[in-house]
Amino acid sequence: MSGRVRLGAVGAGWWATSNHFPIFAGREDVDLVGVCGIGPELEDVRAQFGFGMATNDYDELLDQDLDAVVITTPHDLHHPQAVAAIERGLHVLVEKPVTLTAEQGWDLADRVREAGVHFLAPYGWNYKAFTIEAKRLVEAGRLGEIQHVLCHMASPTRGLFAGDTNHIRSLWDSKTSGPDPRTWQSPSRGGGYAHGQVTHSSALLFWLSELRAASVMAKVSNVGAAVDLFDAAVITFDGGALGSLSGAATLPDGNPYQVDLRIFGTEGVLLLDTERERVSLHRHDGQQWDLDIEPGAGAYECIVPPNRFIDLITGASTENNSDADVAARSVELIDAMLRSAAVGGAEVSVHGPADAGAADPHEESA
Ligand SMILES: NC(=O)c1ccc[n+]([C@@H]2O[C@H](COP(=O)([O-])OP(=O)(O)OC[C@H]3O[C@@H](n4cnc5c(N)ncnc54)[C@H](O)[C@@H]3O)[C@@H](O)[C@H]2O)c1
Repeated sequence: MSGRVRLGAVGAGWWATSNHFPIFAGREDVDLVGVCGIGPELEDVRAQFGFGMATNDYDELLDQDLDAVVITTPHDLHHPQAVAAIERGLHVLVEKPVTLTAEQGWDLADRVREAGVHFLAPYGWNYKAFTIEAKRLVEAGRLGEIQHVLCHMASPTRGLFAGDTNHIRSLWDSKTSGPDPRTWQSPSRGGGYAHGQVTHSSALLFWLSELRAASVMAKVSNVGAAVDLFDAAVITFDGGALGSLSGAATLPDGNPYQVDLRIFGTEGVLLLDTERERVSLHRHDGQQWDLDIEPGAGAYECIVPPNRFIDLITGASTENNSDADVAARSVELIDAMLRSAAVGGAEVSVHGPADAGAADPHEESA
């Protein structure tokens, strides 16, 4: 499409007001048509960013003349709200985790493909210059066939998952609110480290490697919290590669986020580390790539994804590094990890014959 993107937003809490809305409000090609939320601060948010209307009723938002919707609500609401928007032919930015179950994740991917709309899950690390360079090396076949994977993440998020969520305002602040603990700390609403953070490291792994998990054995530990703070899993991928995954919510505040991927192929090994900004690919034939990365470039930020969503709609870009298929492969892994952990760590299938008709994760969605 050409011209301005008419945007609606559902969810107007901490993340929407500290990250997404300032970005959209700063673009000349976006009209902020309406905002939907349920808190008492909604009118303040409308006025702060210049939305044309505010409502507590999502259907009323969807009744406006819109091109696209941004969904930044608690995790369990993403699927129904995205379905309602896609059914109206709207492009959707859906926050992570895009759904809580594999079935819902692939349902969204199917709907996106059928409706021909743009779908982007804002995984910030998938848009860093050094991860894009790593992706090019993998796509060029430098690793050979992937045989083993390590996927680790740790975050300074003890407060977010098990304490005062306002601790995170030192990193991303909002004039109106800190994160609502019910969004991050309720087991029934998809709280916890796996849905909240392993979603990032797994989405980076799945985008980079194009792997899809086949089965998983997992344990999680709450150490007294209502939700998981530590996650550990052994994964078998389609094609037979073996992987180990770890996640930890309790880095001290002020420590850099850790995302450490190590991918071992028949021809070489890729090491990608956001904490110490390392991307290296070393091959058995002696060829080596060691990228120059500016110190600090690995720090988490989510500036590109909302901008990219608009650029996809206007046609200014065609590159989507976190489409519905990448998001669904992350969701199905976490869904299976939590199912395995619930039965004491027994091995469970990630996807079975029942979803044999599901989208081919290697195909690009719209
Ligand atoms: N991509 C990232 O890097 C990133 C970073 C932080 C948060 N997030 C995601 O953003 C989302 C929101 O997180 P948050 O911390 O801002 O949560 P929050 O609790 O601060 O905000 C949630 C918002 O949803 C609204 N809401 C709740 N129920 C609603 C309903 N039924 N209808 C309409 N609105 C409703 C609330 O009024 C509030 O405005 C989560 O999915 C979270 O995982 C993503």
